[in-house]
Amino acid sequence: MERQLERRREAEPVAFSRIIEDMWKRLQTLNERVASLSHVVKFNEVPWEQNATTFLKNYTGPAGLPGWLLRLPIRTLDLREQIVFAGRKSGKHRHYQEAFFYIVEGEGYEIHDDKKYPWEAGDVMCVPTYCVHQHFNTGNKEARLFFSLPNVFDLMGLSSIEQIEVHERYRPPEGATLVRNAEGNVVGYKTAAGEELRFGAGDLTYQQMMEAKRTQQFTGEPRNTYQHFRKNLYDMTAWRLGIPHVVKGKDKVWENTEMGKLKYLMSPYNPGPLLLYDAYLQELPPGGKSGKHRHVGEEVHKILSGKGYDIHDGRKWEWEAEDVVLIPNHTVHQHFNSDPRQPATFQSLQSRLYHYIGHGGIEHLEDASGWKG
Ligand SMILES: [Fe+2]
Ligand SMILES: [Fe+2]
Repeated sequence: MERQLERRREAEPVAFSRIIEDMWKRLQTLNERVASLSHVVKFNEVPWEQNATTFLKNYTGPAGLPGWLLRLPIRTLDLREQIVFAGRKSGKHRHYQEAFFYIVEGEGYEIHDDKKYPWEAGDVMCVPTYCVHQHFNTGNKEARLFFSLPNVFDLMGLSSIEQIEVHERYRPPEGATLVRNAEGNVVGYKTAAGEELRFGAGDLTYQQMMEAKRTQQFTGEPRNTYQHFRKNLYDMTAWRLGIPHVVKGKDKVWENTEMGKLKYLMSPYNPGPLLLYDAYLQELPPGGKSGKHRHVGEEVHKILSGKGYDIHDGRKWEWEAEDVVLIPNHTVHQHFNSDPRQPATFQSLQSRLYHYIGHGGIEHLEDASGWKG
């Protein structure tokens, strides 16, 4: 029997689709909430915590849990800071996310997939996607690492962490006892109530897929579009293993721009081993101000020295050294150094995802103090 397409006249009653109405309502709620939230996270108000890998401050809290979108005025970046104690090392693990680290203080090195990468204060240390990583402090004081993971991986279903080794001073929650495997390695803990938590072993299917590359390489030139995709699987791994994982701050130059004195550490125009981060340093002269601008994407600043304030869409937000400043989407922003004697410096971070999806670029509105063109 021939199938007939059901047709309705416009005048006939149909159920009302609420998809767009619900989206408008959600956006309205989100925008009202974002407008009510603080744009400055005070360093001293965020406690130090420990997890299996390190001692850390969690500036943004974990993404993906119910209500997380409404908790902060930014959404793309997870922001944290960790300590590696003098002569110590962090835990060792691997995850899908790439991770950005700015070395605030200290010196040491990384082991990434068995390769060594030295770092020191002022460097950007990059953990590319799916890379086993561990931090080592070789100095005689604490190393402090401001770091970020892109939240978008949670939305893509790629949030598992493969914990290989816990950090040396790891303690389970109060009352719990450590669980060890046959080799004596810590693999979880057991609470006083008898509940056992095992650290994640990661996504075993993906581990097998990465291992398969050793036996099933793609060599030669692709002869059809499908083969370009096959080759890409191996090319991305080769790129990740081959590129230097530390961007040396000393090798980057300060530029005088209409936004002020900037040192770009990575951008679409000087890319490094991370695909989802743009980063620069800015120095505000004593009593000076940056240019004024806006862009679609969010931006965050880790204040490295000095004190001052931002104006975001006409509203004033005061900051000082160690604070984290959050600039929501589309916000007109400008930065002021309120100290007439000392410069102020900060490290800026943005998600490059906006650039990739066609919403990059900057609308420049006012020149920085001292800009001569
Ligand atoms: Fe990590
Ligand atoms: Fe900006």
